[in-house]
Amino acid sequence: MRYTLRVWRQRGPEESGGLVDYDVDGISPDMSFLEMLDVLNERLVLDGEEPVAFDHDCREGICGMCGLMIDGVAHGPERATTTCQLHMRHFDPAEPIVVEPWRAAPFPVVRDLMVDRSALDRIVEAGGYISAPAGAAPDAHAVPIPKADADAAFTAAACIGCGACVAACPNGSPMLFTAAKATHLGLLPQGQPERLSRAEDMLTAQDDLGFGGCTQTGECTLVCPKGIPLETIATLNHDVLTAALRGR
Ligand code: SF4
Ligand code: FES
Repeated sequence: MRYTLRVWRQRGPEESGGLVDYDVDGISPDMSFLEMLDVLNERLVLDGEEPVAFDHDCREGICGMCGLMIDGVAHGPERATTTCQLHMRHFDPAEPIVVEPWRAAPFPVVRDLMVDRSALDRIVEAGGYISAPAGAAPDAHAVPIPKADADAAFTAAACIGCGACVAACPNGSPMLFTAAKATHLGLLPQGQPERLSRAEDMLTAQDDLGFGGCTQTGECTLVCPKGIPLETIATLNHDVLTAALRGR
């Protein structure tokens, strides 16, 4: 199959960018979106042009490195998958495909389709950990945890930090990410002592980093490749409110 791509090209963070059209041929329906970009880049290199820069690593949907706005949707029109797990059979060769980087003020463009998502690391640094000395690894099942809590913590822990929730949110809010990181710790016994301070500190960090606030539009959950539910945001809001009422 042959596609027309409209790709965002930008030489660096301080440069202005724009959409450039490319035709790419020889694409099989079973190729992933990133493999299709590899084909484009091989041709650009052979033609002596600069390849398109984009982030990727595992290409198995587990590392969170890949992330593109494809036809205006974070990770593409299939939704709830990663860009590396999106396949070309979902695209009509008759329609041009618009490919852009994540758009959010705290995610500056590094080059072309690559953005700097280290602001998410700063949020985790603000409280997404357990600081109590935990000693040696305990025996499995030594600490009883209600199944509902274990299941909810496991669901939240599936977040891969891709940033699609930020890109999809009309406010540029990372609330689903922050909530996932805070909730998966706060629901477990080991995470209880710092539960309220963690929630407050991580929320403060996301505000200080220039992210927008959450107004519960739910766009984030529609694109999240790991199915992080809105309930995690409710849990985080509950913890922040509890912290405020207790006068932390
Ligand atoms: S909550 Fe979902 S969309 Fe947001 S960073 Fe985590 S995995 Fe990606
Ligand atoms: S490259 Fe690792 S999740 Fe896509």
